Amino acid sequence: MTRALVTGSTSGLGLEFAWQLAGTGHDLVLVSRDEARMRAVAAQITDAHDVQIEVLPADLSDRARLEKVALRLTDPVAPIDLLVNNAGYGLRGGFLEVGIQDHEKQMDTLMRAVLVLSHAAARTMVQRRRGAIINVSSLAGYTAAGPYAASKSWVTVFTESLAVELKGTGVTATALLPGFVQTEFHERAAISMDGLPRVGWLKAPFVVEQGLKDAAKGQVLSIPSITYRTAGEVSRIAPRRLMRLLTGPAWSARLGRRALRRSRRRASARDLHAPWQCDDS
Ligand SMILES: NC(=O)c1ccc[n+]([C@@H]2O[C@H](COP(=O)([O-])OP(=O)(O)OC[C@H]3O[C@@H](n4cnc5c(N)ncnc54)[C@H](OP(=O)(O)O)[C@@H]3O)[C@@H](O)[C@H]2O)c1
Repeated sequence: MTRALVTGSTSGLGLEFAWQLAGTGHDLVLVSRDEARMRAVAAQITDAHDVQIEVLPADLSDRARLEKVALRLTDPVAPIDLLVNNAGYGLRGGFLEVGIQDHEKQMDTLMRAVLVLSHAAARTMVQRRRGAIINVSSLAGYTAAGPYAASKSWVTVFTESLAVELKGTGVTATALLPGFVQTEFHERAAISMDGLPRVGWLKAPFVVEQGLKDAAKGQVLSIPSITYRTAGEVSRIAPRRLMRLLTGPAWSARLGRRALRRSRRRASARDLHAPWQCDDS
């Protein structure tokens, strides 16, 4: 029996990791802030699969709570074989519009938590000469789209360097770099994605399945879908000047304007239908 610890396991990719890992017989340690939601998830999973689930509530931006999760990763009695550093969120607005405390909290979740938990897990796993770490990064890390993108760039480079350091130890590190995925991510941040065509969206089950397969092979970078793999390669070799032009704040503003135009079109279509909908007969 193997055991996985998944952060950000109440929704989206983390929830999907929990389901797929339970489906392949992994016991789980679930880490998120919303304890009631985690307990409900644990109950649903144990109804469907014969696995043990621990619930470890923690806001990963809180250093003391983070330490509790790190301690769990070093527990020799019930060791963790797979760490999935997945928890994360976006912030709406440009760098200057968002308060610095919100930026710091986000950086602590997206980077410090990944650093601390990877350190605790990797040290313990190396002693056991087995284990794997998946750090959920993002293709946004190749863009110039604000502190979120910069932090994902950090996650990717950090994971690559960790993978090199772990070579030959029996422990692997994989950075998972999805494109846009249908989760609660954008809704939570109140970021309108109406401007993104439907083909741009990936589904969480596909992304997670791909990530787990690549991690099992010991692959360092995992980019699900051919389209996004190509986009990743292009953005990696494209001149940074071009990336700044295409993916900087101007791009976000353009996406927002498209969304606004769409919602206006929808509103006027609704107005056209109103007389029939209001018919009393
Ligand atoms: N969706 C996308 O398009 C996309 C693309 C590329 C990469 N990603 C990355 O994928 C990862 C998962 O995001 P998602 O798309 O699945 O979003 P999601 O559906 O909003 O899930 C985010 C999860 O993270 C948890 N979380 C957030 N802040 C936390 C904190 N401070 N401490 C502990 N848990 C926290 C949330 O649970 P609680 O609220 O219960 O704490 C939730 O379970 C993130 O790292 C994100 O950056 C997403």
